[in-house]
Order: sequence, then structure tokens, then C-alpha cells
Amino acid sequence: MSTSAMTSPVVTDRAAVITGIGSYVPPDVVTNEDLTARLDTSDEWIRTRTGIATRHVVTPGTATSDLAVEAGQRALKSAGSAVADAVVLATTTPDQPCPATAPAVASRLGLGGAAAFDVSAVCSGFLYGLATASGLIAAGVADRVLLIAADAFTTIIDPRDRGTAVIFADGAGAVVLRAGDPQEPGAVGPLVLGSDGGLSHLIEVPAGGSRQRSSGRPAAPEEHYFRMRGRDTYRHAVEHMTRASHEAVARAGWRPPDIDRFAAHQANARILAAVADRLEIPPSRRLSNIEHVGNTGGASIPLLLAQAAAAGQLTAGHKVLLTSFGGGLAWGATTLQWPDVTAI
Ligand code: UT7
Repeated sequence: MSTSAMTSPVVTDRAAVITGIGSYVPPDVVTNEDLTARLDTSDEWIRTRTGIATRHVVTPGTATSDLAVEAGQRALKSAGSAVADAVVLATTTPDQPCPATAPAVASRLGLGGAAAFDVSAVCSGFLYGLATASGLIAAGVADRVLLIAADAFTTIIDPRDRGTAVIFADGAGAVVLRAGDPQEPGAVGPLVLGSDGGLSHLIEVPAGGSRQRSSGRPAAPEEHYFRMRGRDTYRHAVEHMTRASHEAVARAGWRPPDIDRFAAHQANARILAAVADRLEIPPSRRLSNIEHVGNTGGASIPLLLAQAAAAGQLTAGHKVLLTSFGGGLAWGATTLQWPDVTAI
């Protein structure tokens, strides 16, 4: 990179600043007892291995866009303005393979005409979406971006697979980002992102894409379901979230003791504890809602932030570390000082 590019002008001084946040979970709740009625599992196994007690799920007829519109409406209300130049939707469960779901969401939110597209980074979708929104703002393409992360994850889960059916759930979270100063509260800090496509087979939906379609071989019904090699994924999740977190904290000029709130993708309570332990973040500074929402994929971080802010566990001025990991493999981390916003 040339010196002029590194020091280049005005646009690089435009940070994306969170100015509104909202979330939504569908009303239907599935308990561990509900799952034990149809799967070879137990409340004790699910609680001790994952930290999950209940989760919200969509009912027939509800799609990802329905969750996204609800969360998007709340974020716009929280921001006090129904304006956005771009709508970015992070999801693994688009309403259909083509077109992207974001334009329909933008239209239903009264934002028709805005740039709108999906980001596909599975459970790291929100952090990849933050990077995308930050780039749109830094480049001067947009002044305000509505970033929504939504997943109707249970629509791709095999209800007979106890390795995934007890973990994944549905929900949505959204933030409104405006152009602002990198030093002000709410400004998205340095982003650390990474991937390892050599391990894409650890988390996948084998069928439904061009690879399977061009094979000439019809897919078996179970190939349309999500598959995860849990134990291997677990190991990589701890390693990458820890490393990315260290790097993001260092790039922000912080040290781990500076972190007031740890907001990690709610993959599994044991993974979160392992990462936080390695970062030496005490339990009182760890945000968690996995017990009541399960693993909601890309929606997990904004849903966590919104619920924690609404509950008063996350307040203006807190230094927050965000980190995520998921299929791709893809991971990320960033920092920000929590702004004075009302979560809805
Ligand atoms: O969202 C982003 C990416 N995803 C993740 O980061 C998730 C990462 N992985 C995990 O969270 C965990 O690996 C799981 C929760 C999926 C599984 O927990 P684990 O402690 O790694 O269990 P395991 O896969 O090593 O299986 C232990 C045992 C096995 O039985 P044997 O072989 O020891 O007899 C499994 O068959 O537990 C069994 N098992 C279950 N038993 C009761 C697996 N699932 C269940 C279940 N109920 N639901």
C-alpha cells in the first residue's frame, strides 16, 4: 500500500457510529423438556453442555425477513429517524436463494430505493456486516446504514439431529450506524476478521447450491439440512475468538483489564467461558443470554447487546469487546465504547 493511501484523506476519518439498536425474537418458546419428548437427550445434558434452557423459534409461515423487519423497525425507532441510505442484512437463512432478502426488507421498512444486499458469514455475519457498513460510510457511499442480522436458523435444522437441534434457534438484532468521529462513543473500533475455507466442511448445508446442482445428482432430503462437527468446531471457536479478541483489543489501544463488557457470539456457554477465561475477563463482565435464546447464528451479538442494554447490564461509556466465530470458517472481533442509546 502506498503512503498516500495509508494517510489518505477525509473519508478514512469517517467512522460508523451506533445510533440505534433493536431486537426481536419470535414469541414461540421451546424448552429442553419439549426437546426430550422427541429426541434422545436430556435437560441436564443440554444445560451442562451448552448452557441453554429455552429458545425462541419461528412458527410455520414465518421467514427471516419477518424477523428482520421487526428488528429493523425497532432499531430505526431507537435511532429516532426512519432514514437509511443502505440496508445490509446478515443472514444464513435468506427467504430464498435468489434474490437477496435485504431489498424486500428495505421495502417493507419504507426504505425502498436504498442500497440493499445480504452478507453471508454465518455466525460471524454481524461483525462482517459491521465491517461492510463501516466501509460504506468511510468511503462516503452512505451516511446512515441499517445493519440487520437475522436468522430463522431452525428452518435449516434437522429436527432429528440432537447435535444441532438443541442448540440453534431464531431471532434478529439490528443497529443503525451513522457517519461520525472515530473517537466518539458508539464508533466501531478496529475490526479483525479472518477465515479458513479449508475447514468449511465442519459447518455446512451440503445441498441447494451450484456444487450439488451441477453434479447432476439429486440431493437427498437430509443434505438440505445444516450439519456441524461440534467437537472440532468447538476447539477452533475458542482458539480464533481468543486470538481475534487479543488483536482487536491491542489495535484499539486497550488492554484486557480495560474491557467492561464481553459480548461474544452465543455459541455455547462453555465456549464463551473458555474464551473469557483466556482473556482474563471476570464473570461479572461477561454478557450472556444463551440460557433463554440459544444460538441464534448471525443475530446473536446484536440480540445480546440489545437485551443487555435494555436490562441495564450494558450502559453508556462501557468499553465493549465483541467477538464471533462460525461456519466458513469465519471469525472476527472489534471494540467500541457503548453509546447513549435506548435499546428497543
Ligand atoms: O455457532 C457457531 C459455531 N458453533 C459452535 O461453536 C458450536 C461448537 N460445538 C459445541 O457447542 C459442542 O461441541 C456441542 C454442544 C455441539 C456438543 O458438545 P460436546 O461436549 O462437544 O459433545 P460431543 O459432540 O463431544 O459429544 C459428547 C457425547 C457424545 O456421546 P459419546 O460419543 O460420548 O457416547 C454424543 O453422542 O454427547 C452425545 N451427544 C448428546 N447427548 C445427549 C451429542 N448431542 C447430544 C444431546 N443429548 N443433544
